[in-house]
Amino acid sequence: MMKKYTGLSTRCVHSGELADAQGSPHTPLYNTTTFAFSSTADLLDVVEGRKPGNLYTRYGLNPTIRSLEEKLAAIEESEAALAFSSGMAAEAALFLTHGKQGIICIGDAYGGTLELLSSQLPSLGITTNFLLGNEVEQLPALLKKSASLVFFETPTNPALEIFNIRQLSEIAHANGALVAVDNTFASPVNQRPLALGADFVVHSATKYLGGHSDITAGALLGAQSLLEPVRGWRKNLGQMIAPETAFLLARSVRTLVLRVERQNITAAAIAHAMQSHPRVARVLYPGLPDFPNHAIAAEQMTGFGGMLTIDIGETREATSKIVDKFRLFAIAPSLGGVESLATQPVTTTHHGLSAEERHRRGITDGMIRLSVGLEEATDLIADLHQALA
Ligand SMILES: Cc1ncc(COP(=O)(O)O)c(C=O)c1O
Repeated sequence: MMKKYTGLSTRCVHSGELADAQGSPHTPLYNTTTFAFSSTADLLDVVEGRKPGNLYTRYGLNPTIRSLEEKLAAIEESEAALAFSSGMAAEAALFLTHGKQGIICIGDAYGGTLELLSSQLPSLGITTNFLLGNEVEQLPALLKKSASLVFFETPTNPALEIFNIRQLSEIAHANGALVAVDNTFASPVNQRPLALGADFVVHSATKYLGGHSDITAGALLGAQSLLEPVRGWRKNLGQMIAPETAFLLARSVRTLVLRVERQNITAAAIAHAMQSHPRVARVLYPGLPDFPNHAIAAEQMTGFGGMLTIDIGETREATSKIVDKFRLFAIAPSLGGVESLATQPVTTTHHGLSAEERHRRGITDGMIRLSVGLEEATDLIADLHQALA
């Protein structure tokens, strides 16, 4: 029986950890593919689900993976959790299980998610529809045409758009649909979508949960009854997280609160510094009081995150020149690690879209997305100043 700790930091450190006969204070790495039983009766108890236990790693029945999943469930305050080999694996398994009657994606989303939803799932006969932030009022009508799953990111990539989780969940539920929120950008430190009414949380654990740019992993959280059918897809699509990765991810989650709280503070300092820079046309950061939907962010988030986007309002080439001058920010996609990264959405996450589609989504040539790491704020601000000079 899982012990319940009230403090998030305590849950990050202690939840899910297995008592170890050798005295390890945390769950050891069981780099094992199969587990032995003392009798056929014992084996059948696990195979037939009468007893929890370890059996075969691809099924998730491995102590390191089960321990990680208990920790992940505890930090998102979820009944259950499934760990995956990547964030995309988690999304794909969710969509294949609960999106068969149609999926509606609200707002901008990660490029891989958009590719899966716009071309790959429709090729299997799954209907997908898309509503941008300024089209959300069409949701009830679209839901009535039949959709079983509403999916969105909040904050979104790269414009940090904020969606009202509680309100959208109420609309979806009133129309018989489930709601999945990609909580990758916020992390469980800043936002708990399940407590706000969502049915699922999905994570690219590659980002803040992993936190060191050295793990590719994913997670899906929600009620046991909703995750049980997803488990079957994960098993037979072979999407299981490797035990080594599960071990590293649990290690990282133990410091999640410290890292994200510091990233929140540094990102806010950078956002304020960039607001007064003459070369910066706009700063997109949910923590700024004049940011659209700041009030909703303030209500549903406990921190505003380590991601921000500056828009210098210039051409793609002029913007690339600035990016190329960074000395501390590395030019790289991805986010959530200890090292700060800068990326031009037009050259990475939104590179595949036409200029018209980028315009429709509010993605400009002058945008630079910053993932704030754990360096000193003064050093990062100095790097931005010298690049913008
Ligand atoms: C918001 C978001 N969701 C999902 C994904 C996919 O995660 P992964 O790369 O772990 O498959 C990403 C990756 O960049 C992301 O940024």
